Amino acid sequence: MGISGTGSVAGTARDGWSSRTAFILAAIGSAVGLGNLWRFPAEAGANGGGAFVVFYIGCVLLIGLPILLSETLIGRHGQASAPESVRRVALQSKASPAWGLLADLGVLGSFLILSFYCVVGGWVLYYVGIFAVDVVQSGPFGGAFESMSAEEIEALLPDLFANGPLMVGLDALFLGITLYFVAKGVSGGIEWVAKWMMPAFFVLLVAITIYSAVGGAFEETVAYLFTFEWDKLTGPVMLAALGQAFFSLSLGLACMITYGSYVGRSVNLAGTSTIVAGADTAVALIAGLCLFPIVFAAGLPANAGPGLMFQTLPHAFQSMPGGPLVGLLFFVMVAVAALTSSVSLLEPPVAWMIDRFRIVRPVSTGIVAAGAMVLGALSALSFNTMGWFHPLGFIPLFEGQGMFDVLDGLTAKLFMPIGAILTAIFVGWIADRRLVDSENGLGGILHLFWLLLVRFLCPLALLGILIAGLFPDLFGG
Ligand code: PFF
Repeated sequence: MGISGTGSVAGTARDGWSSRTAFILAAIGSAVGLGNLWRFPAEAGANGGGAFVVFYIGCVLLIGLPILLSETLIGRHGQASAPESVRRVALQSKASPAWGLLADLGVLGSFLILSFYCVVGGWVLYYVGIFAVDVVQSGPFGGAFESMSAEEIEALLPDLFANGPLMVGLDALFLGITLYFVAKGVSGGIEWVAKWMMPAFFVLLVAITIYSAVGGAFEETVAYLFTFEWDKLTGPVMLAALGQAFFSLSLGLACMITYGSYVGRSVNLAGTSTIVAGADTAVALIAGLCLFPIVFAAGLPANAGPGLMFQTLPHAFQSMPGGPLVGLLFFVMVAVAALTSSVSLLEPPVAWMIDRFRIVRPVSTGIVAAGAMVLGALSALSFNTMGWFHPLGFIPLFEGQGMFDVLDGLTAKLFMPIGAILTAIFVGWIADRRLVDSENGLGGILHLFWLLLVRFLCPLALLGILIAGLFPDLFGG
């Protein structure tokens, strides 16, 4: 159990993970999501395959993992919501409590991501529905789906975009499911989802990957994902890989600080962080090995970007035996992964509200979700009827963009890198050394190595993403 009695509503003990395994599963659940299944293959495909993948793995090891450990250790030490945890560590280190702002920013960032993440979660539910109806009506080999033309299949997504009320409804459904589990609390809700859904997710992932490897173009995929060609490693490719590593590990957004705050004192954080980063990277790679053989076997292009999962893949499912059933299982798997991530995006603002205003969890959850629903509806509608609605259009970075793209750009290009840079500086330079040493579970040379990374490499590399994100022209991106 998380052991602190502080930071909760008047007099009640603070909730926490029931075991180390529960924490590991919940943190893997947060990390593994649309980022692995949708964004990673799309980014790898759009950025030339092998060079991106190899650089990505380096980023996870040298930058993602040290920051992940830094975030969880702040949370575990603070045993409170993310901003309060940072403030406590700052005060004990005789530093200014204003450092708490780094996590305030993270809480706001996770709220913003939640709002549009649930919109994409809604698209996933839509595809679950399409495949489920086909399988129920016509059996695993499908009927209606089988007879659709390639154009009709590719039009499914734009057709959904054109239907504003349906998109908002699906967004509300996905957010509603997320809300239900977060309202039930850490051990009773979030942990429950992780314990049941993550194993189910892994079974589905392995089963579909084996199916895809046996029946699809596996050798071509391996060559594509793992052939490292130096000349493809350009500035924009490196930055895309670093940004992807960050998004995938749920960093820079108070999320892992919050999850860390529910961990008991006896857990070795260096060990658990390594397991979480390893599992997340393995899932991203397996997702590539699962998706591309199907795409290549159908003779389709790998570089469709975001359309890869929602347009190219359904097209490929059509041409394989049992495709509709595989499609159904595939999108159920994506929905499960997205749900264990969306609960981790809702939890930081909810924990903050409980701490800050002493409002009980179900009410806090309802208030945050209502706010996310309003923003989410604006994002959903920015694909069609409100395409003219460009809230930050006066800033050159966001010129001509709808709400969805503005929120995506704002969080990925500003909130995540700024949050992570401040975390690295805070843990590397500001926090009391003895406090950090006693929390991080590292000894000797490994500790020294981690400190070097957190102090130097992480802030500098992250500053690189920040500048490149803000001034793409500088990097030719
Ligand atoms: N890591 C999640 C994914 O890969 O889909 C997304 C995410 C969750 C990002 C939580 C940030 C976060 F705080």
